[in-house]
Amino acid sequence: MPHRTTIRELLDRNRQWAESQTEEDPTYFARHAQGQTPPFLYIGCSDSRVPPTDIVGAGPGDLFVTRNIANLVKPDDVGMRSVLEYGVHVLKVEHVIVCGHTECGGVMASLAEDPLPGFLGAWLHGPRQLAERAHEELAKLEGKAKVDRMVELNVEAQVRTLAQLDCMKRAWDSGRQLHIHGWVYGLSGGHVRDLLTLTAENQTVVAAAE
Ligand code: CO
Repeated sequence: MPHRTTIRELLDRNRQWAESQTEEDPTYFARHAQGQTPPFLYIGCSDSRVPPTDIVGAGPGDLFVTRNIANLVKPDDVGMRSVLEYGVHVLKVEHVIVCGHTECGGVMASLAEDPLPGFLGAWLHGPRQLAERAHEELAKLEGKAKVDRMVELNVEAQVRTLAQLDCMKRAWDSGRQLHIHGWVYGLSGGHVRDLLTLTAENQTVVAAAE
């Protein structure tokens, strides 16, 4: 297992980081204090091995981020809906990215025979239903291949759910250039795979994931 970082180490690294940023660019903090205009809204998994800014070499000010277990977009999730509303209509991002990842624990749990107890089971109800609907295809696969296919299906379902939301439709109806991207990050090699992109022109109306 990798070394477990201590809280002291985190605070020490914060000081080092702040000093090195200022050394490199003395106007850095003053500039960012003026506000944010990120071009991207990133919806990812909470997994600690998939740090959004690191995997795409982004810096502060690039990504407006929300993360949850298995990168789900649930229409009744007030937290998600407010991030979307603020990101799309106030910050006016041009791209919304849903990024899943291989070997996702949340997705694996949705494939397990029994649902997880408590909040986790409730949260993963959508992916579990999705896995049931895709049963025929998934039954032909095993192990990692099965999980990775389910990761793709899950990302695609979240992208399609997003495209159904009033927040996106309003942006598209007003002529805004707004793209929704579905990505999968590979834990083993670190590469992002671009699965699908929806735009105002090519959005297809399908049943929302739930
Ligand atoms: Co995950």
